[in-house]
Amino acid sequence: MYTQSMDMADTTAPAPVPTAAPEALQSRFDEKIDADQKIEPQNWMPEAYRRTLVRQISQHAHSEIIGMQPEGQWISRAPSLKRKAILLAKVQDEGGHGLYLYSAAETLGTSRDQLLDALHTGKAKYSSIFNYPTLLWADVGVIGWLVDGAAIMNQVPICRCSYGPYARAMIRICKEESFHQRQGFESLMVQMQGTPEQRAMVQDAVNRWWWPVLAMFGPPDAESSNSAQGMRWGIKRISNDDLRQNFVDATVPQAAILGVTLPDPDLKWNEERQQHDYGAIDWTEFWEVVNGKGPCNKERLSSRVKAHEDGQWVRDAAQAYAEKQQARLLKEAA
Ligand code: 3HC
Repeated sequence: MYTQSMDMADTTAPAPVPTAAPEALQSRFDEKIDADQKIEPQNWMPEAYRRTLVRQISQHAHSEIIGMQPEGQWISRAPSLKRKAILLAKVQDEGGHGLYLYSAAETLGTSRDQLLDALHTGKAKYSSIFNYPTLLWADVGVIGWLVDGAAIMNQVPICRCSYGPYARAMIRICKEESFHQRQGFESLMVQMQGTPEQRAMVQDAVNRWWWPVLAMFGPPDAESSNSAQGMRWGIKRISNDDLRQNFVDATVPQAAILGVTLPDPDLKWNEERQQHDYGAIDWTEFWEVVNGKGPCNKERLSSRVKAHEDGQWVRDAAQAYAEKQQARLLKEAA
């Protein structure tokens, strides 16, 4: 099970006053980063490092939670008991990933309520990819194959992130993402061996998801405002463009095995670079989606807020139970 270190600072208590001089604290931190050692919650860290981690980890958590929706909509319509059970398990895994990641973000001193409030009021970002609709059953397979495939490409390097709780959470998440990717690919393999209509359905889904998946890796390196600092701090290990290229190179042979065409006339092997060339990504569309104007942004956010409000009774019951337990302990101790 994913755990945090047990001697964490109490985030409700006033922050301890550091005994060493600020320069000494900074140089100890820099030494650890240079030596590729982990920074733990109880260690001193620069405020900008803390803010960057809260930003990235919470965006990641929000993406996992919002990411339950596009596939969750297919649980009741999955074509067999087997597919329903697999999809149910996968969507539950995504919920679990969100919870590990909120826990990791909380170790940095930001409360779960603050993180959720930022999501629900539209202040926090989450991955652009989850603002696209799942129109067909084949979309569910394509999300597994391509979206989870892209997520693994991006997230395996984060297992080596300099912040201990994030790195440890990512190890388990990546193992589960690997199952997600395989189940998607296997579902598509079965559909591609079916009727012409089923094959056309898979191709249609691939056509719609390919470009948003490439954009999911984030803006080109030259326009990636956070990359240089994220790399320096060992939070980010591989750049947006390099991960995108690795993903294209890994996916082209998989598409050939499946028998689908990737919708890019410029996609071809470059002998000199020993990598694939690919066409231009529509960054205008990407930024529109990130800034709330994608096909499903409003629906995703309102469903999320409704789910949170509908769950208020669970939080109230848990709170009442905790208070009752506390009162009993106090009475026994008296
Ligand atoms: N969707 C929405 N916003 C995005 C984005 C995307 N696909 N890609 C980049 N952005 C945002 C960044 O968050 C940043 O905004 P901010 O400064 O306001 O926070 C801005 O665009 C500029 O991008 P940068 O490249 O400078 O940002 P980063 O250095 O943080 O890199 C990232 C972006 C590669 C997404 C990085 O944050 C990261 O690796 N995050 C962890 C992984 C993650 O969050 N993945 C999301 C998908 S989770 C998932 O797919 C679930 C799975 O179950 C399928």
